[in-house]
Amino acid sequence: MTTITILGAGAMGSALSRPVTDAGWDVRLWGTWLDDHLVDAIEAGEPHPRTGAVVPSSVRAYRSAQLEEALDGADVVVMSVASVGVPKVTELALEGISQADALWLTSKGFCPDEAGRIQLLPDAIRAIAARRGATLPPLVAIAGPVKANECAAGLPTATIFGCRDGEVSRRYAAEAATPVYAIAHTDDEVGVEVCAPMKNVYAIALGIADGLGEATGTPHHNLKAAAFAQAVREMSLLGARLGAHPDTAYGLPGVGDLEVTGLSGRNKVYGVRIGRGEEPREALAEMDRLEQTVEGVPAAGLARTLVDQLGGGLAEELPLLAAVCAILEGVPDVQATVAGAVLPRRG
Ligand SMILES: NC(=O)c1ccc[n+]([C@@H]2O[C@H](COP(=O)([O-])OP(=O)(O)OC[C@H]3O[C@@H](n4cnc5c(N)ncnc54)[C@H](O)[C@@H]3O)[C@@H](O)[C@H]2O)c1
Repeated sequence: MTTITILGAGAMGSALSRPVTDAGWDVRLWGTWLDDHLVDAIEAGEPHPRTGAVVPSSVRAYRSAQLEEALDGADVVVMSVASVGVPKVTELALEGISQADALWLTSKGFCPDEAGRIQLLPDAIRAIAARRGATLPPLVAIAGPVKANECAAGLPTATIFGCRDGEVSRRYAAEAATPVYAIAHTDDEVGVEVCAPMKNVYAIALGIADGLGEATGTPHHNLKAAAFAQAVREMSLLGARLGAHPDTAYGLPGVGDLEVTGLSGRNKVYGVRIGRGEEPREALAEMDRLEQTVEGVPAAGLARTLVDQLGGGLAEELPLLAAVCAILEGVPDVQATVAGAVLPRRG
């Protein structure tokens, strides 16, 4: 039986425990030092506070001090903490990770290195391992349209595993799938990892269109659809510059995940607030007060830095990214800013 240790007992970590349990795996769920209240609920058999679903009773929960025990003998380790926590949790878990057959990654984001160069998360993890002289097993990036609460509730879900070694992603896609948790696979790790944080950035723009509709009483569906198409194009262009297959953005990691993220979720809700007329910084502070982390905000700034570092005129090809960044900085006419970025130019 495959033993899998999921690092991070938040919404996604706990949600993933459901399909892998149903696939017949031996599942361990480790909570960070921020997760004690979540582990309390899991151990009490109560619904997880973030997903509303009860974690399967066979899942063994571990607290932050029990990391070594949680990792002992694990065949697969899953990094499922917020991107900001990935470097620290990688450092702490490195020995167990290096002894596993694979490291899966549901975390989404960009990570600056010490020189300020923006890395995709798998590269950041590889750099940490290289500095410590550790060997990493194959890394499997997980993306696609997966809302944690629906996955945890056992609702039909399509996801995609991306590994440089396509045979590894194919094998795990076959072994971890269930009748309701379907797993596509690809060897395009970069394409999967670019779409994951970028769709959070673009979901803010989709939310803005919805918020404009609420504020004016007139739907802005045309603007939202134009923003959607431009967002997919930009994910494809950015991915291609980093070596991804341009088509990856047009499948589950891009179109699929952008659709689900633009329907609901923290990035979209934040965009709605801005579209309704709230000042972006105040709206973000309010989301923080509600413990709603808006990952698209730091991702937007890091993506802009990445695009500048890549150079070669790429910035001009990503006007919606520039528009979201300008809006987050407080540019006054939100509707005109989004429209200017996504409506095809005349002539
Ligand atoms: N929620 C979803 O539907 C979903 C779907 C796919 C992927 N993801 C991704 O999975 C990751 C986790 O998201 P989530 O929804 O579980 O979030 P969450 O807020 O429910 O949980 C966050 C997890 O990260 C840990 N964490 C937060 N800050 C940390 C820090 N500074 N240091 C160490 N650990 C820290 C927490 O302890 C917790 O385990 C994110 O990168 C997210 O984008 C989420």
